[in-house]
Amino acid sequence: MEFGASLGISTIHLAAGLKDRGRGSLITTEIHPVKASALSANLSEAGLGEIVEARLGDALETLRSLPGPVDLLCLDGWNELHLPVLQLVAPHLSPDALVIADLSAGDPDARARHWRLSLSSQASRSRSLHLARESSRTTSTA
Ligand SMILES: C[S@@+](CC[C@H](N)C(=O)[O-])C[C@H]1O[C@@H](n2cnc3c(N)ncnc32)[C@H](O)[C@@H]1O
Repeated sequence: MEFGASLGISTIHLAAGLKDRGRGSLITTEIHPVKASALSANLSEAGLGEIVEARLGDALETLRSLPGPVDLLCLDGWNELHLPVLQLVAPHLSPDALVIADLSAGDPDARARHWRLSLSSQASRSRSLHLARESSRTTSTA
């Protein structure tokens, strides 16, 4: 599952991995309608439309219903929404789930967000929280 697809760069990487593996599917979310439209076109062009379900709208609404256990959660929306999205998805995380959060550079609250995400990730018993972009300074394994 992915929060924040934009035009689909990360979505295509994740879905291509699933395709190579021969199983699994991806639910992604995008709130901006123009981006969501480009996302769908990009996924089709990449031959990944069958693997990805793109949900248009606010992730806090569109992720309320999930079909099954989530093995990987990639948080790449706006930083302030990562924690609420994690909390929404947490009951669906498989015991060994991997949570990845990409905190955009320049966020003055990045360190505090890191700790809140880390604690929440541990509470949900997911395997680890990896924070991208902030290098070793804010990367942790829970
Ligand atoms: C950093 S960009 C995503 C980049 C993308 N993962 C990539 O690899 O190119 C963050 C995206 O999250 C989307 N977003 C922000 N708030 C959202 C929400 N509440 N629900 C769904 N998508 C949201 C934004 O419209 C934006 O396209």
